[in-house]
Amino acid sequence: MSIPRRRPLVAGNWKLHHGLHASEALARSIAGGLPSPCPVEVVVAPVYTALATVAAALRGTSVGMSSQDLHWEDRGAFTGAVSAPLLKDAGCTYVLVGHSERRQLFGERDEDVRRKASAALRHRLVPIVCVGETLEERERGATLDVVLGQVDAAFGDRDASALDQMVVAYEPVWAIGTGKVARAEDAQAVHVAIRARLTRMAPEAAAMLRILYGGSVKPDNVVELMQQPDIDGALVGGASLEAASFLPIVQAAIARA
Ligand code: PGA
Repeated sequence: MSIPRRRPLVAGNWKLHHGLHASEALARSIAGGLPSPCPVEVVVAPVYTALATVAAALRGTSVGMSSQDLHWEDRGAFTGAVSAPLLKDAGCTYVLVGHSERRQLFGERDEDVRRKASAALRHRLVPIVCVGETLEERERGATLDVVLGQVDAAFGDRDASALDQMVVAYEPVWAIGTGKVARAEDAQAVHVAIRARLTRMAPEAAAMLRILYGGSVKPDNVVELMQQPDIDGALVGGASLEAASFLPIVQAAIARA
């Protein structure tokens, strides 16, 4: 059986960094540094307050925009929340769901992640569902239990057409922002397990679904990661904050595309 060609995706998660001016400048440098046409899909996720500005800066370029989170309700008395229709309105096409910082620092549960992914799908935003184990879970050999449990919670019972509209990001919690990157073959093994799990639900959609790796991805470790057949791109935090470190990561994905 031939390996399906999945178009790599590289997403930059700017987290709580960069105001309007810096976000706009970075968006322009990234867009200006990509080949045209670009064989890799590139997406950036600015803070909420910079979304409209970044959308304007990216108009007419190949770079897409993601939100870092969303609320599952469309409107109502939910002070501080932002919903899928508003994110669409601001120009997003993607949304991160269940990032480990949301899970760990803001108490997000699997059930919340599921509802958020459903809200995104309802409004045709592509959810990038983040999963990953802590160091303690890895050390006691629970990595696959934890990761596949998170996958089941976010994906369970969805039909194949929903799977076509979703992306997974495997981000070991111990690798995020720590400079410790998973060994490429260890990450590959987890990606294979995630794909196998989703294959039980929808074989063709699972074969085409993109699974990104995240956690201290840098220009000097990305090449080996991208050589793994089931690593279809990267979710990049720290190294996405400057074009000088983000563009080489995109280049490595292009080399694989
Ligand atoms: P990092 O963050 O690249 O800084 O480790 C990745 C992420 O949190 O998505």
